[in-house]
Amino acid sequence: MEDKIILITGATSGIGKATALELAKSGAKIVITSRNNEKGNIVVNEIKKITGNKKIESIAADLSLVSSIKNAVNSFKARYKKLDVLINNAAIFNNKRLETADGLEEMFATNYFSQFILTHLLLKELKAAKGARIINVSAPAFTKPRFEDLQGKKKFNAAIAFGITKAEILLFTYELARRLLSEGITVNAFHPGLVKTGLLSKAPFFIKIMGKFINTFIAKSPEIAGKHLAELATLEKFKNFSGQLINKGKPIKATFASETRMQKKLWDESQELMLKLV
Ligand SMILES: NC(=O)c1ccc[n+]([C@@H]2O[C@H](COP(=O)([O-])OP(=O)(O)OC[C@H]3O[C@@H](n4cnc5c(N)ncnc54)[C@H](OP(=O)(O)O)[C@@H]3O)[C@@H](O)[C@H]2O)c1
Repeated sequence: MEDKIILITGATSGIGKATALELAKSGAKIVITSRNNEKGNIVVNEIKKITGNKKIESIAADLSLVSSIKNAVNSFKARYKKLDVLINNAAIFNNKRLETADGLEEMFATNYFSQFILTHLLLKELKAAKGARIINVSAPAFTKPRFEDLQGKKKFNAAIAFGITKAEILLFTYELARRLLSEGITVNAFHPGLVKTGLLSKAPFFIKIMGKFINTFIAKSPEIAGKHLAELATLEKFKNFSGQLINKGKPIKATFASETRMQKKLWDESQELMLKLV
């Protein structure tokens, strides 16, 4: 792994941080993104100290904003010509509808659309690496996107909107996997299971309470999820896996997200939005 370059978003806490730490043990170059420079630098130093791997760095990126994603990509491109593994992991769970400066609902922008933009802007570097892997962190999703109101302007429920972002990631993953098949790039979604993190700390009240119960009695540690995610990113046995939702190293079913018509529709809508904003 010494010559590999891995970019992971949302590695300042939870599953992303645990994954970055696990990946750093392999000796690969790890680039994390962080919306808070200070937090990013603390995590970088912590990972360096624990693993002895000095090739860890942080690039500033507020993934809810297209301009910030573009700046982060430019910083990456200025330093590196290839990208072996891209892990789109960052997410938020809001308790109300918030809008970004781009006019997008914040969970749509951060959880899903940032993955679409970041991946597109880094395609050249991914193609330049032999057998690159893209992993989009998601979950089994049961709520279909509402194409007539993707930004939740007419009707909004925070829990449903969050669930939709996870469905959008799955739809995007399957479509992208097909499109990149001939390029030798694999694309998978990863479901970490229930993990003890702060993801639900700003979620609607009842979900927050449920999250506290789950964190106390059911959820596993971020280290376990990080190990599974790091394995998917690096192990030889996954090199031909593509277009799958993976949990604990095994493909699982993804309900309606396997509908190709819906995948194509979301792709077209996202591309139109990207052309407007990038
Ligand atoms: N925890 C679970 O049980 C569970 C289950 C299924 C799926 N997942 C998925 O796992 C992934 C990681 O979540 P987690 O549970 O580890 O949550 P977490 O601890 O809250 O981590 C979320 C990460 O995303 C970053 N982030 C949020 N908004 C951002 C923005 N605008 N720009 C840049 N970075 C941003 C956070 O940065 P800050 O440190 O700056 O806040 C943090 O590093 C998510 O995709 C989540 O949906 C989690």
